Amino acid sequence: MTIRAKEEATALEAAGRVVARALAAMRAAVRPGLSTAELDAISAEVYRAEGARSAPRLVYDFPGTSCISVNDEVVHGVPGGRRLRAGDLLKLDVTAEKDGYMADAARTVSVGPPATVAANLAACVRIAFRRAVALVRPGVPVRSIGREIETVARRFGFSVVRELSGHGIGRTIHEPPAIPNFDDPVSRARLEEGMVIAIEPIVSAGSGDAVLGSDGWTVRTADGSFAAHYEQTLVVTASGPRLLTRA
Ligand code: CO
Repeated sequence: MTIRAKEEATALEAAGRVVARALAAMRAAVRPGLSTAELDAISAEVYRAEGARSAPRLVYDFPGTSCISVNDEVVHGVPGGRRLRAGDLLKLDVTAEKDGYMADAARTVSVGPPATVAANLAACVRIAFRRAVALVRPGVPVRSIGREIETVARRFGFSVVRELSGHGIGRTIHEPPAIPNFDDPVSRARLEEGMVIAIEPIVSAGSGDAVLGSDGWTVRTADGSFAAHYEQTLVVTASGPRLLTRA
């Protein structure tokens, strides 16, 4: 969406705060032995307290509150009985709806001390996001955001998962424009003043090819390599990006 009125900005900020709180509460709870369903319940608890709802459940009938993906699972992991183990690399992807507005954010979190590749993956997506977000201004082609993200991924020796991209957001989860994680020649969109977008570098240690799991939800790397994901929702303004989901 593109923000046209002050009330819309306020409502989106509220949705963004819920997402940040849920992410912070989940991160603080991560430890070996916890199941992904128990971790998911923490986001549900925050939503209940804040009068918010799970946007993926609302929009896509996702069978969980938040997407929790482990190790080679890239995105859209379904919470369940899997218990976290030291060395796991978690992607917590939290999208909340509050009063009709939605915000989306993800973090990569290691269970216990990370192995070198896991630590580098987590650093890579954080840095790629920071570098990409620094480009955000009205008029900027979304392609240049993707180019920056892929440049950072390559420098680390990693690959972006090309079939997954950032997106506009606001009244529903996925709105135009798509924000590719590489310099996509078919992408023509430019950022506009007041546009609300989610930028989300998604990177794997292997080829970047992804496959859909047998549950019909979980996207995993084709080669079994670990993946990382970092995402925030932000508003494009003439003075730069305004982050709504700082956790
Ligand atoms: Co997203």
